[in-house]
Amino acid sequence: MSVKISSKNLNLHYGEKHALKDVNLDIVENKITAFIGPSGCGKSTFLKTLNRMNDYVNNVKIDGEITLDGENIYDPRVDTTVLRKKVGMVFQQPNPFPMSIYDNIAYGPRIHGIKNKKKLDEIVEKSLKAAALYDEVADRLHTSALGLSGGQQQRLCIARCLAVEPEIILLDEPTSALDPISTLKIEELLMELKDKYTIAIVTHNMQQASRIADYTAFFLVGEMVEYGETKDIFSMPKDKRTEDYITGRFG
Ligand SMILES: Nc1ncnc2c1ncn2[C@@H]1O[C@H](COP(=O)(O)OP(=O)(O)O)[C@@H](O)[C@H]1O
Ligand SMILES: [Mg+2]
Repeated sequence: MSVKISSKNLNLHYGEKHALKDVNLDIVENKITAFIGPSGCGKSTFLKTLNRMNDYVNNVKIDGEITLDGENIYDPRVDTTVLRKKVGMVFQQPNPFPMSIYDNIAYGPRIHGIKNKKKLDEIVEKSLKAAALYDEVADRLHTSALGLSGGQQQRLCIARCLAVEPEIILLDEPTSALDPISTLKIEELLMELKDKYTIAIVTHNMQQASRIADYTAFFLVGEMVEYGETKDIFSMPKDKRTEDYITGRFG
């Protein structure tokens, strides 16, 4: 078991609002880690600290450290473009670009300088296959991605993320806009992908966390209350607040 990302005494303020309070948490390589907790507790904020997406927010102040393979990603020398290539992200609403399926996947590799058509063809096919979408779209790669169903669009967004060869995939409630069948497909996909990638997923669906996550962290008003193997968190939580949440007493 090796630690891929480590959060050390992480504090985040949005102006006066203390949104993350001294969060310490290790994310293990080639595992799925779920972040659960009621709305507004800081799950998305924490996820976004892992690839510095909060840098875009005005008035944000971050103290402490996030290390990736032992290096502090908040070091001023870190190139955030390189960081975000390593740490990809998938959002709640599928957000394909208004262009063809092919161009959606080729977009990132092109930005990173790949121009060779044959190489791009290979990347597109490989990424779509890895995202379990290829068979459904192979005959219409050059049609608009906006014509896909919601579940297909979300798998396309995962394929787009894989195309730049990340090491870590962050997903923020990736199935909450999807039907149950599409949800299960994404869950199965994530369980396959963890062989090659380290995965962190925010979910407000506790069944989802217990189905797919190896580790689960419970957040409450900016605090990371409890973290451990998913089966332990759900069967014998140590903290009363975790127990109250998972037994449905609030949230
Ligand atoms: N850009 C922002 N500016 C100010 N406050 C924010 C911003 N984003 C989130 N917050 C606040 O930080 C807290 C945590 O939000 P968030 O991380 O989105 O929670 P969750 O994903 O668990 O629902 C909330 O109180 C939210 O209102
Ligand atoms: Mg959120």
